Amino acid sequence: MQLRSRHLLGLEGITAEEITLILDTAESFREIIERPIKKVPTLRGMTVLNLFYEPSTRTRISFELAEKRLSADTVNFTPSTSSVKKGETLRDTVRNIEAMKIDMIVVRHSSIGVPYFLTQCIESNVINAGDGAHEHPTQALLDLFTIRRKYKYIKDLRVVLVGDIKHSRVVRSNIWGLKAMGASVAVCGPSTLLPFEIDKFGIDVYTDLDKALDGADVVNIMRIQLERQQAGLFPSQREYTNLFGITTERLALLNKNYTIMHPGPINRGVEIANDVADGDSSVILEQVTNGQAVRMAVLYLLSGKKEEAAE
Ligand code: CP
Repeated sequence: MQLRSRHLLGLEGITAEEITLILDTAESFREIIERPIKKVPTLRGMTVLNLFYEPSTRTRISFELAEKRLSADTVNFTPSTSSVKKGETLRDTVRNIEAMKIDMIVVRHSSIGVPYFLTQCIESNVINAGDGAHEHPTQALLDLFTIRRKYKYIKDLRVVLVGDIKHSRVVRSNIWGLKAMGASVAVCGPSTLLPFEIDKFGIDVYTDLDKALDGADVVNIMRIQLERQQAGLFPSQREYTNLFGITTERLALLNKNYTIMHPGPINRGVEIANDVADGDSSVILEQVTNGQAVRMAVLYLLSGKKEEAAE
């Protein structure tokens, strides 16, 4: 069993078998990152470029650590200190860096489709680390991995994604991944933050949080991007919190063994109350730890290396 593509651009169209392969491979790597020496020679000799045109804490550091733990050489590109400042195009930038003999590129960009564009310019494997409001596939894979680790299965679990559904690449990737794995998926947010034709995704759609949470197993809470308030998409932070904030009182609506997730960064006291974020049912930091193992699995599977994952 192999992944069908040598790039990871998104989860739209991915099969349950491919997701299961990534999650099973990530289990081996999850064990490695608990060892005193968290390093295997799996990608020795390979060079990975981390091309982040947008800010990131979790994804960039997680990829860099994943690469280092697999013994790859890593290079970090920062646009503000590069010749992008002198007007160099994205195509020229990546073609010049590739001429220095890199093998894989991890890319984050504010424009939808940049990862696909790179596959048309260069030979390296491309991994999407978030492109505009399109997809963030490794975030959704680490979310799936975290859910599967807790419940031992994903099929038929009720997963509710709450918040800014319209602008969230995490939501899109989660919808494709969760549906492929047979979960029951719902989204909930203000009608101004739901995308046009959301009903075509084949999921349940709510604007009433209490109805959405009724009987849910997993609540994955999206960050409210505060600039959306300036754009008039919701009247005030306080109103948003009253209607859509996840508080202890609201947790009573969930199934007994519920799980609280958030991809980060968190707006504490806005979309999630402090005691919920830090409570026993929150797996927010577990998601971050798991992200490294999932990214190690993706790098390994796309590299085409044949060695045992957990040498
Ligand atoms: N979840 C996530 O993508 O976080 P960063 O923006 O910090 O990478």
